[in-house]
Amino acid sequence: MPPPSQVPGEMSETERREAGALMRVNHVGEVCAQALYTAQAAVTRDPSLRAHFIEAAHEETDHLAWTRQRLDELGARPSVLNPLWYAGAFGLGLVAGRLGDPLSLGFVAETERQVEAHLESHLDRLPPADSASRAVVERMKLDEARHASQAVDAGAAELPAPAKALMRVASRVMTTVAHRI
Ligand SMILES: [Fe+2]
Ligand SMILES: [Fe+2]
Repeated sequence: MPPPSQVPGEMSETERREAGALMRVNHVGEVCAQALYTAQAAVTRDPSLRAHFIEAAHEETDHLAWTRQRLDELGARPSVLNPLWYAGAFGLGLVAGRLGDPLSLGFVAETERQVEAHLESHLDRLPPADSASRAVVERMKLDEARHASQAVDAGAAELPAPAKALMRVASRVMTTVAHRI
């Protein structure tokens, strides 16, 4: 699917650099989403759930391409740590998958909710003139919200509060590092 297209307005060098850093973070998020869904699809024994994970992974592939394209257009680089992010998220996906389908889905729902909130915060931080990045972020935010509710509909269990807090800490580390490198 093509990215939501918008022609960005004029940006200062500082704005362009900040937009690039934010889109690098979002690109890493999509790298992780690929890894999580792929790992969870590999672990589940339920064929319909596997199909659901693969379908979601497919949409995340679009997100990956859109964020990558914005990075290129902004003259920014993807995170040099992407192989590491992928490996870490894949490992987490395997662990979540082993906990059984309800918790695995609960992990998906909570991840997608946190990503949705994170994307919302980027709409405040992205330069107003960068309508192209904003269009991508807005579209992804809608998709991630849908992924969360689909996981709930598929039978997600609510994760315990400490698990959610731990996930917020992990994503804080990821977003802080990926903003720089
Ligand atoms: Fe995504
Ligand atoms: Fe998603």
